[in-house]
Amino acid sequence: MSKKLEKGILIVFEGIDGCGKSTQAKLLFEKLRSLKFDCILLKEPSSGKWGKKIKKLSLFENSISPEEELELFVKDREENTRENIKPALQEKRIVILDRYYFSTIAYQGAKGINLKYIENLNKSIAIEPDIVFILDVEPSVGLSRIENRKKKEKLFEREDYLNKVRRIYNSLKGKNIIKMDGSQKIDKIREKIEEIVLKYIEKYIDN
Ligand code: ADP
Ligand code: TYD
Repeated sequence: MSKKLEKGILIVFEGIDGCGKSTQAKLLFEKLRSLKFDCILLKEPSSGKWGKKIKKLSLFENSISPEEELELFVKDREENTRENIKPALQEKRIVILDRYYFSTIAYQGAKGINLKYIENLNKSIAIEPDIVFILDVEPSVGLSRIENRKKKEKLFEREDYLNKVRRIYNSLKGKNIIKMDGSQKIDKIREKIEEIVLKYIEKYIDN
């Protein structure tokens, strides 16, 4: 039997490539599951039709315009929110999400699209998360962790872009936004995240 909650809870992980968010999202998912909470781990771009389309295009190569990128990410998010996130929250589950609209604000914003415009567009189709963890690392650190995932000759260009993305992440404010130092040891970050999340969830356990 899983533990019952009074409401669904949405926890989002954000940060530049290689910051460690997928690692932490998975560790949190496993921890909550071991404590018998009913949770689900999702990511964006999603595995839906728009997400698949995004993954096929190499954004790294700037194959489409920033405006077209924005449109695809928003379509993917609208579908993922409607088909996966909302139903899970309605069933009072914990949704752990690896990237959400903060990624669009930071990544497409870093390509020159107005930040407020991206935010407003996303807020009309997305759900405000309970907690957003933004893991902060220097782009050189993030890139060195995932070096073999990307083409080496483009790393300098990528680092420059990720510096802009990082600056936008660092400028984001909100009572649900928690910034963490992603250069610490995996276990240290994990412990802090678990402490914050368990304290938050405690208020909603249905006894
Ligand atoms: P992201 O999802 O942010 O792109 P991942 O979580 O997939 O990044 O991590 C990228 C790589 O870095 C993985 O090999 C992972 O094991 C490693 N890693 C994650 N967090 C840390 C950390 N805090 N310190 C050192 N290496 C890490
Ligand atoms: P992915 O392979 O999922 O990378 P990661 O493990 O870093 O999450 O690809 C996601 C890429 O797409 C990543 O570089 C960030 C980018 N992205 C955007 O530019 N805008 C968005 O709205 C989202 C969700 C991702």
